[in-house]
Amino acid sequence: MNSFRQQPPPLPADRSAPERPPVQELFNSARDSMKQHLVGHHRLIERLLAAVITGGHVIIEGSPGLAKTRTVNTFATVLNADFVRIQATPDLLPADLTGTSIYEQHSATFNFMPGPLFNNVVLMDEINRAPPKVQSALLEAMGEQQITASGKTYPLSDPFIVVATQNPIEHEGTYPLPEAQLDRFMFFVDVQMPDPALEHEILDLVLNENTAHSDATAVTRLQPQDIKLARQQAQSVFISDAVKDYIVRLVTATRGYGAAGAESKVVEHAASPRGSIFLARAAQARAWLNGRDHTTPEDISVLAPDVLSGRIILNYHAQARGVTSRELVARILDSTAVV
Ligand SMILES: Nc1ncnc2c1ncn2[C@@H]1O[C@H](COP(=O)(O)OP(=O)(O)OP(=O)(O)O)[C@@H](O)[C@H]1O
Ligand SMILES: [Mg+2]
Repeated sequence: MNSFRQQPPPLPADRSAPERPPVQELFNSARDSMKQHLVGHHRLIERLLAAVITGGHVIIEGSPGLAKTRTVNTFATVLNADFVRIQATPDLLPADLTGTSIYEQHSATFNFMPGPLFNNVVLMDEINRAPPKVQSALLEAMGEQQITASGKTYPLSDPFIVVATQNPIEHEGTYPLPEAQLDRFMFFVDVQMPDPALEHEILDLVLNENTAHSDATAVTRLQPQDIKLARQQAQSVFISDAVKDYIVRLVTATRGYGAAGAESKVVEHAASPRGSIFLARAAQARAWLNGRDHTTPEDISVLAPDVLSGRIILNYHAQARGVTSRELVARILDSTAVV
């Protein structure tokens, strides 16, 4: 219509820097890379990516041998990040994580030697075997993204993500995480035993891995600027009042409010406001990863079990009857209207 409107001249192509695809595409191909190196575990992969986008931390609960370490290893590879694995033991000291000041005789000064927490991805295996002092050093790191050693404060890397594992069957000699510690995690993901079809796939994947046909290097690697951009974009994903209201009704049901409040009689310790905030942030990350600019009630109902179950503690009677907090969240979801 407007024949006077002229197109601006095309910008000269910058041949020195090949154009990087949009960051959402990069994240999708990072997700696909992870799926190629792991059989199943799709939910865990999605949660790990959402955690890095939102700056959250993750607990993985599962029996030995279910590829927890392999998953976190692959995750660190696609993040192109420093990765460290710490096996928690009862004799672990806070300084084993944070680092320590060492006296250097020739200069007569103390120099700080950073510990494993100064990595981007920290896998804390069997976190509940670590004594409370170590758990609280981790708490500061997770909450503040900094640590204090010998009275001085040091900032940690960015991104910084703690992935902790817990074994659901062994409880002897463990220090269960206190509520304050659990509340710092964004996601609690349980990994299950594979069925026969998946077991076949795992065998094929692992047995072919060391052959000439395998291409273990073909993995999308994100850059720090991709993660920063993803964070910015995910933060501006729209959350409607109706979706916010759905979050509030679910979370406060754990405290006895609303139609589903009756379910909370088995609750000893309800979900805190961090539960609502993490649920909203996780929904933004999920929407962004799926190419949407707004969250939906489905984001909330899909994420609620992994965000809320770990931060609700059931009373003794419910625990004795074998009720789990995951079952409680499922019941609250069933009895809460979406809009
Ligand atoms: N779903 C899976 N996809 C790919 N490999 C798998 C899967 N499940 C198990 N494996 C293989 O099983 C082995 C054990 O995996 P890994 O060491 O990561 O388990 P884990 O959960 O960390 O165990 P642990 O609790 O004993 O540390 C690895 O060789 C891994 O490749
Ligand atoms: Mg392991």
